[in-house]
Amino acid sequence: MTNFLLVGNGAREHIIAEKAVESGAKLFSCMAYKHPAISRLCEKSGGAYKTCDICNPSEVAEFAGSQGIELAFASPDEVLAKGVSDGLIRKGIPCASPTQAASRIEWDKAYARELLSSHNVPGMPKFGIFLDETEAAEFIDAVGDVAVKPAGLTGGKGVKVSGVQLNGRDEAVAYAKEVLQSGMGGLPQVVIEEKLVGEEFTLQSFVDGKIFIPMPLVQDFKLAYEGDTGQNTGGMGSYSCADHRLPFLSQDDYESAIRAIEGSIRAMASEANRFKGVLYGQFIITKDGVKLIEFNARFGDPEAMNVLSVFDGNLIDVFKAMGKGELGGIRGQVKFKPLATVCKYLVPDGYPEKPLKDQPIKIAGTIAGNLRYYFASVYEKEGQIYTTGSRAVGLVGVAPTLGEAEKIAERGTSLFTGRLRHRSDIANEQMIKAKVDKIAKLTGIKN
Ligand code: AMP
Ligand code: GLY
Repeated sequence: MTNFLLVGNGAREHIIAEKAVESGAKLFSCMAYKHPAISRLCEKSGGAYKTCDICNPSEVAEFAGSQGIELAFASPDEVLAKGVSDGLIRKGIPCASPTQAASRIEWDKAYARELLSSHNVPGMPKFGIFLDETEAAEFIDAVGDVAVKPAGLTGGKGVKVSGVQLNGRDEAVAYAKEVLQSGMGGLPQVVIEEKLVGEEFTLQSFVDGKIFIPMPLVQDFKLAYEGDTGQNTGGMGSYSCADHRLPFLSQDDYESAIRAIEGSIRAMASEANRFKGVLYGQFIITKDGVKLIEFNARFGDPEAMNVLSVFDGNLIDVFKAMGKGELGGIRGQVKFKPLATVCKYLVPDGYPEKPLKDQPIKIAGTIAGNLRYYFASVYEKEGQIYTTGSRAVGLVGVAPTLGEAEKIAERGTSLFTGRLRHRSDIANEQMIKAKVDKIAKLTGIKN
């Protein structure tokens, strides 16, 4: 039995914890607040948990040392950026998540674009990196429609795109100026990219520094309301298909994404900054082919719930191999069931603008079998679960077809009572058909 430490306390960590315990781990956890399900999994498996500052490398490493931890995995972006994996490694604890230097691919968008373009990784959009407002404005004038991004971490909420959050050239220029003057994201640069138009998709991989094993493709839905409207959120839901691809993506498009990942892992290794951990590639299929939007140095949330729901292997063995640089030896054991998944997030009424906080939620039915639930940002007080203000519960349906998985997840959302809402359009039939038609029209090819 492996003493396994998981750092983090969202729905993504809930499913990682569940799979770790199913894989025979004794679970230990460092969490920012007591997660009702992860804390129980720790107790049930004979482990323990600690609520602490999970971004503090020495607090986490000290707990790990005191509990005889044999393997660790940290996942929130800020935790990785603060060097929590490094603190564990310094204590001699094998770690399956990337170091601060390797996770820079996520926490510094300027570094990521520069590194990958200098190594000719395919799929780069036109981009510029600026410290100066006038130069940024000149670039916007030359490119037209753009995405304006603080270089550092902003919880997924710092990127603004022409025609979505930015109305016209002047708003784009003003936002670039605001990013530079406020130091948004904690780094001095603003990254400006040509606006890419198409359908986004996620390709997550297990990476051991050299070798990578791709997981099923996922599409997530970041916008708050039905019909993809409203503000960006952490993600309102996501889906994956039984063939592990997406209905609007061709084999050639898939291979383009794989080549970009291959090139990126090689680029990091050749700069003596090997990436070990879960690498999350966000891509977009456009009329000019597949382009890379960004990398994250961790599982996505909700995307972890899609891929891990169909993962068919021992997660602890995969994490051990990833940390040791020995994924090649277990490649045959990393399998995913040929099933579709749909995740729908229940969020507090008013989320994300004015979310209702501290509202009780209850399970009003039996949740089992091909329907699962994962708690995100909720807390427990005297046996009652309450919302915080962020996403509350992820409902996951698993079935042979996407249509069935969608119905299961949708039914699941009605089994919780409380002041909650969700997007009922995620992965429904009309939405999938609209995506397929859109990409066929954009690329001129029928998939
Ligand atoms: P990021 O934090 O880089 O993943 O960006 C967040 C979201 O902004 C992405 O999921 C896209 O929807 C959008 N976005 C980022 N870069 C671009 C781009 N170059 N063109 C269009 N949309 C973008
Ligand atoms: N679902 C997007 C993310 O985890 O960053």
